[in-house]
Amino acid sequence: MLNLILFGPPGAGKGTQSDLLMTRYNLTYISTGEALRNEINEGTSLGLKARHIIESGGLVDDEIIVQIIEKAIQSQKHGEGFLFDGFPRTYVQAFILDGLFTRLQTVLSRIFILNVSDEVCTKRLLQRASEQNRADDNEKVIKRRLQEYHQKTFPLLEFYTDSGIATTIDGNGTTEEVFEQIDKHIAEELRKRPANIIMFGYPGSGRATQAARLAKAFNLHVISTGSLLHEEVKSGGALAEKIEPFLKAGLLVPDEIVVRLIEKKLKQNDGRSRGYVFKGYPRTLVQAYILDGILKKQGTAITTVINLQVPVLELIKRLDARAKTAERMPYDSETTTIVARLEEHQKRTEPVLDFYHNHNQVITIDGDGSIETVYEKIFDPVMKAIRNLK
Ligand code: AP5
Ligand code: MG
Repeated sequence: MLNLILFGPPGAGKGTQSDLLMTRYNLTYISTGEALRNEINEGTSLGLKARHIIESGGLVDDEIIVQIIEKAIQSQKHGEGFLFDGFPRTYVQAFILDGLFTRLQTVLSRIFILNVSDEVCTKRLLQRASEQNRADDNEKVIKRRLQEYHQKTFPLLEFYTDSGIATTIDGNGTTEEVFEQIDKHIAEELRKRPANIIMFGYPGSGRATQAARLAKAFNLHVISTGSLLHEEVKSGGALAEKIEPFLKAGLLVPDEIVVRLIEKKLKQNDGRSRGYVFKGYPRTLVQAYILDGILKKQGTAITTVINLQVPVLELIKRLDARAKTAERMPYDSETTTIVARLEEHQKRTEPVLDFYHNHNQVITIDGDGSIETVYEKIFDPVMKAIRNLK
């Protein structure tokens, strides 16, 4: 799991950075400040108890905060980890969070300390006061909030000294500059837990479409050997001449060539992605062994295999429909070619699944339905598989 804390004085940009992080990562967002404001707006008893403390700029009792956290954890859909904004805020809360992680059988990955001077924070919050309507955004209360931060919150960092997971971030730059720093550390964190997915299925089952969506959601690169081969030919790469005859004849390109293209692609990784979605590979049992070897060389392995199942008639319908559009593939053109590809998949590629079944890595998904419904079915099991990575 990826569990993060954004720590810093009021106005440091915790909420702002959380918004950006939430667009990129699948995390469960917990902001105690926001949760308390919701309780106040809804007029609950917790809200009533917290209201005057917040409006005076003090810290709400740990007792109330525990209830807020419990509620937030129970009511939200769980992501790949947690993002805490404004919690913990006292030494006791740091213990509470530790206990919570133990109960959830996980650990804190990083705490980001946004370093911003009181002057800048005050300026930002007064500016925010003119844009939003937060009861605690006025000069007197801001001063008190900053005092509380220095007296009660900042010292809790002692809890994380020597843990090696506290990272100080200069929070004075622009929102984008600050985000870039944080994101760099998260990318580093994720590289320690690589995820590699194989998108398996018959031609026309929606592999490419779903692979692209998963890649975006989980920060992965798609490796489609079909595209790699076509790109190599199109760009006149070193292997183009060797590849072309095979593609023209609709035959499988020899493994020596494909391996080299995959390795080249892996080397191009900009370091921002945590792993790969393989589409159209492995196609044979030999390739399944090769892929294990390639990944082992990188110190990683296959996390999970998605098997998209679509009835044959539906596959033919989809491929035939695609043949009539601009997205047409050269091999979509004739019914005989379509049938030949489906047959080849059945004979040579289906046995690859047994290989992964033996390792309990296959998740079978009913791929008959809209792109959105199928994606929804894939998302949760992938999330589970990835979350369980240490
Ligand atoms: P909470 O809601 O957590 O407020 P806070 O800590 O005071 O922080 P803010 O939300 O004001 O600031 P932020 O760091 O999120 O900054 P933002 O991104 O908005 O808590 C409120 C109250 O609830 C507390 O005072 C306490 O009473 C209670 N409470 C909450 N949690 C508690 C807990 N665990 N225990 C006890 N009590 C608790 O940015 C601020 C402004 O600056 C925005 O307008 C933004 O647009 C702008 N900005 C952000 N980044 C930049 C940048 N890089 N450059 C320029 N402008 C920027
Ligand atoms: Mg905030």
